[in-house]
Amino acid sequence: MKNIVVIGTGYVGLVSGAGMSDFGNNVCCVDVDKDKIDSLQNGIIPIYEPNLKELVDRNVKSKRLKFSINIEDAIKSAEVIFIAVGTPEDKNGNADLTYVLQVAELIGKSLNSYKVVCTKSTVPIGTGKRIIDFINKYNTNNIDYDYCSNPEFLREGKAVADFLRPDRVVLGTSSKKAYDYLRDVYRTLYINKTPLINTTIETAEMIKYASNAFLALKISYINEVANLCDEIGADIAMVSDALGSDGRISPKFLHPGPGFGGSCFPKDTKALINVAKKHNVSMNTIDAAIKTNNNQRIRMLSKIEKLLEGKLNKRTIAVLGLAFKQETDDVRESASIDMILGLIKKGANIKAYDPVANDSMKKIIPTIDYKLNWQDAVKDCDAVVIMTEWNEFRGMDLYELKKLMSKPIVLDTRNILNLAELKELEFTFDNVGRK
Ligand code: NAD
Ligand code: UGA
Repeated sequence: MKNIVVIGTGYVGLVSGAGMSDFGNNVCCVDVDKDKIDSLQNGIIPIYEPNLKELVDRNVKSKRLKFSINIEDAIKSAEVIFIAVGTPEDKNGNADLTYVLQVAELIGKSLNSYKVVCTKSTVPIGTGKRIIDFINKYNTNNIDYDYCSNPEFLREGKAVADFLRPDRVVLGTSSKKAYDYLRDVYRTLYINKTPLINTTIETAEMIKYASNAFLALKISYINEVANLCDEIGADIAMVSDALGSDGRISPKFLHPGPGFGGSCFPKDTKALINVAKKHNVSMNTIDAAIKTNNNQRIRMLSKIEKLLEGKLNKRTIAVLGLAFKQETDDVRESASIDMILGLIKKGANIKAYDPVANDSMKKIIPTIDYKLNWQDAVKDCDAVVIMTEWNEFRGMDLYELKKLMSKPIVLDTRNILNLAELKELEFTFDNVGRK
């Protein structure tokens, strides 16, 4: 078991830091955000992520997990350093490596004994070499260290389960010693026979982008098939089930919707294309997946416009679901943003509700009317648009919904409402591929 510092205590850093302490390691999670660290030191989890509080509390109590603002000291005491800071999209669609390189500089300056430096942030293929150059530049005492790439595959909303029971762990290493250190970090998983894929740094970096891009591609594909179902009267739910029952395809990521969002697929697909461009390699499939995703958002807007016979001006529309998917408060690149801004542009008034993401969305769109429950949001509305597949919306009483609205018009972009009930209650409705 190892002494670990995780630099960057966001969605990935906090979950993986807590997870690695659960595996028996001693972990210190650090961040430049003092408020975040203060909250964590007081037992408050700054994000909504199911089961995370229990995981954090359990490991803080057993003294294997702590939080600090003193990054330099934490680096000095660690045997393994994980970099988990953000790599957001820059204005050209590349990954912005500012935070990663800041951390690399600090690591270089703070090295005091042999350590394994491991990147968990998603960084473009070839970044490992840049990080090593940065560390070397500031490692003036030439302290021995090894660099590794350990991409993270957790999903928001299921992050704890994904981290504690991953399908595989990818370890891009350049020395046997570094691999042995990381195998020790993940010893619990190794004993449980989780595949540890040991490869080169570049291959590990590539695996991460290839995985995210493939999943994005799968979603855009099913969205296009659903759109065709709309036109020809086929049922996408049955198509997806039948497709997914073919073991070569798998049923996962075959749910059509308003287009993928989140902090990763949109930025990682663009970053992969940019890396490929630099090497004169075409990525036509990924390019198409991005275009399809943008079109899907426009298509959802035109669906609601059609349901309201082209008259959106001065209509009041309830948007249910603001997070980019269920079980998270994250609204980064959420399809709801495009929907709300599109409706506002056409003159509609918006009432919005999300079980946990109202506050996150207020920071992006402060001007709309936020409600504390779906009943208040839909009251006297001309139409409802469901944007996120929260269970709370799946279980909505459609009779109550109809009674509260001024007109029973619903766009279900997640295909979660019961078609037979909608028909029986004489709703005017649309969805994605289930006419
Ligand atoms: P995030 O924005 O939630 O967290 C990043 C954290 O890093 C913030 O708390 C920020 O204050 C901190 N930070 C920034 N600069 C710092 C510095 N110099 N020193 C210390 N801390 C610093 O980001 P995230 O969603 O956790 O993503 C982190 C990385 O992991 C990204 O590269 C992302 O692509 C990747 N990733 C994310 C997910 C996910 O589900 N969110 C999954 C897999 C991989
Ligand atoms: C995704 C990947 O699934 C993770 O493996 C990866 O680690 C992470 O990106 C990352 O690199 O950050 P995440 O973005 O948290 O995880 O969530 P997903 O469940 O993948 O959903 C992404 C988007 O696709 C959401 O908007 C979701 O609603 C949409 N989606 C997903 C669909 O429209 N249909 C589906 O069938 C699945």
